[in-house]
Amino acid sequence: MFVIISLVITCASQVVSGRSMHEPSIVAKHEQWMAQHGRTYKDELEKAMRLKIFKQNLEYIEKANKEGNRTYKLGTNEFSDLTNEEFRASYTGYNRPVPSLSRQSSRPSTFKYQNVTDVPTSIDWRKKGAVTHIKNQGNCGSCWAFSAVAAVEGITQITGGKLIELSEQQLVDCSTDNNGCSGGLMDKAFEYIIENKGLATEADYPYQQEQGTCDEQKEKAAAATIGKYEDLPKGDEHALLQAVTKQPVSVCVEASGQAFRFYERGVLNAECGNNCDHGVAVVGFGTAEEEDGANYWLIKNSWGETWGESGYIRILRDEVGYGYPL
Ligand SMILES: *[C@@H]1O[C@H](CO)[C@@H](O)[C@H](O)[C@H]1NC(C)=O
Ligand SMILES: *[C@@H]1O[C@H](CO)[C@@H](O)[C@H](O)[C@H]1NC(C)=O
Repeated sequence: MFVIISLVITCASQVVSGRSMHEPSIVAKHEQWMAQHGRTYKDELEKAMRLKIFKQNLEYIEKANKEGNRTYKLGTNEFSDLTNEEFRASYTGYNRPVPSLSRQSSRPSTFKYQNVTDVPTSIDWRKKGAVTHIKNQGNCGSCWAFSAVAAVEGITQITGGKLIELSEQQLVDCSTDNNGCSGGLMDKAFEYIIENKGLATEADYPYQQEQGTCDEQKEKAAAATIGKYEDLPKGDEHALLQAVTKQPVSVCVEASGQAFRFYERGVLNAECGNNCDHGVAVVGFGTAEEEDGANYWLIKNSWGETWGESGYIRILRDEVGYGYPL
C-alpha cells in the first residue's frame, strides 16, 4: 500500500517538474475555473480581488495535497474564489444555541440506543434505501433544515418502509424559532415538525434558496412526521455509533475551514475544529481499506453532487455534536 502511494507521488511530482515551464499561470487557471463554474465578475477590480483569493485557496489545496501524510485529497470547487468568512456566511448556517436555548440540548446520560450491542463494523443507510438524493442548499444558510430533513427522511423509511423526500423550504419559511437562510438549529426544526405534526413533501413545498412567507396550506399537508427527538451525550463517539447503527443522525461539524470546504475524496483527517457551524447528517460509518484502514463517519452534505464524493464526505471518526428524531 505504502509503496503504491509513494510511486504515485514520485510519478506525479516528476510530471509536475517536467512540465513546470508550461504550467498555466494562476491567471489562466482562474480563467479556466471561471469558465468551468460559469463565474462572472462585475468589473476588473472585483476580478483582481477574486483572483487573489482564488490563488490563496489554490496554494492551500496544492500544499495540503503534497504533504502526503493525509488520507484525503482536496480540490478546487465552486467555492474557490470565496474567503473563509464569505463562505461561512453563505453556505453553512448552524447557529450555536445560546445558553438559554440549550435547555433541551442538555446532553442526557441515558438515550434510546444506549443498550445497543449489535454495532456492525460498517453500515451505509444509502444501501438500505433510507437516504434521498444529494440536495443543494445554495447561497442560503439553511444547512440546519437539510440536516433535520435527512434524519427525518431516514427514520420515516426505517419505520414505515417508504423513502419520501421532505421539504426543507417548509422549515425555512415556517419554523419561526429558526432564522431561515441566516441559520438555525436541528433541534428547533424537530420541535417544529412535532408541533406541526409533520412535513410536506419536497415536491409539494419545493426549495427556493431564500426565506419566504410560510404557506399555511402546504404546511398542513404533512407527508411524514416524528413523535419526539433526543440528543446524544456530547462527545461520545460510541453513543453515535450505537445511534447510527439504528438510523441516520443529524450532527453539527465545523465546515468553514479550508480542508472541509475543498474536500474532494478520501477520509478527512485534518483538524476540523470544534467550532460547530454546519448541520449535516451521519448516514453510515466504516473503515477505508484504501486509506490505511482509517475509520470514518459517512456524512451527507447539502452542497450539491459536485462537492466531495458525489456530495458526501467521509470524516475520521472523531468528536462531533449530535441529535436525531425518534
Ligand atoms: C439500558 O439498560 C439499563 C440496565 O439494564 C436499564 O436501566 C436502562 O433503562 C436501559 N436503557 C434503555 C434506553 O433501554
Ligand atoms: C502532515 O504533516 C504536516 C507537516 O509535518 C503537519 O503539519 C500536519 O499536521 C500533518 N497532517 C496530518 C493529518 O497528520
